[in-house]
Amino acid sequence: MKIVNTSKELTEYLNHLSPTQTIGFVPTMGALHDGHLSLLSKAIEGNDVVICTVFVNPTQFNEKSDFDSYPKVLDADIELLNTIKVDVLFAPSVAQIYPEGTNDIPFYDIGALENVLEGEHRPGHFQGVCHIIDVFLNMLKPTSIYMGEKDIQQIAVVQKLIEINDHSTLLVPCVTLREESGLAMSSRNRRLSVQGKINAAMFNKSLCHIRDLQKEKNFLTLKKEAEEMMKAVGFTPEYIALCNANTLEELSDFDQDIPMRLIAASFIEGVRLIDNIAI
Ligand code: PAF
Repeated sequence: MKIVNTSKELTEYLNHLSPTQTIGFVPTMGALHDGHLSLLSKAIEGNDVVICTVFVNPTQFNEKSDFDSYPKVLDADIELLNTIKVDVLFAPSVAQIYPEGTNDIPFYDIGALENVLEGEHRPGHFQGVCHIIDVFLNMLKPTSIYMGEKDIQQIAVVQKLIEINDHSTLLVPCVTLREESGLAMSSRNRRLSVQGKINAAMFNKSLCHIRDLQKEKNFLTLKKEAEEMMKAVGFTPEYIALCNANTLEELSDFDQDIPMRLIAASFIEGVRLIDNIAI
């Protein structure tokens, strides 16, 4: 695997590719786990060349403390990436991506997605995501970008970005990988204690509780029950939203005529976890 840290080196590499070679792109913020490996495997399966980025993007963190405590383990990431057939790791510095600083990034009009769910609870987060993905899509011009469904709203936002900025890249959503306990794999799980990780399994269990009883009780009742289940093991739930799976618009109750998705965020041991399941 070739490791490059500057856009100049990256461009040199890209210039050597033939225009017919397909490029699969997996953007990450590092602290790689099996979930990332599954995205990379999909990219390897479907493309001639696979490029992975490891970049903890400061402009998508609305809390500086969250950025500071985000796990940064590049050496371990490189070791893991070397076990599979990734062609290039692009791991730029913040100065490389933001030579003018991080205060002035362009505005991306992503419509309603900006202020709902994650957007409501993490103001500005999706502007930072759009910016970094826009920068990478412009640099790499990948054939396909592979993203995990754990960040379901991020997938909708990046799809919108592709449309508004006319990128030719195809977005490939990939299923969420879970621990045996049901806990969605996440780099943030590394910050949990052993007991915290065991308790964190209740997050997914409580969402499944809502899904499994949807024919018996209304959403509000089940949502309260799920929140109690989470609180009992030390979670502080932030939100649990029932949404139209296509538009991510919030629904007040179950509607069996449309595809639905439960989307939630909850804190445990000071770590903010997100998850979502189909209903
Ligand atoms: O999902 C992530 O890890 C990040 O939001 C992404 C897509 C790599 C952009 O920084």
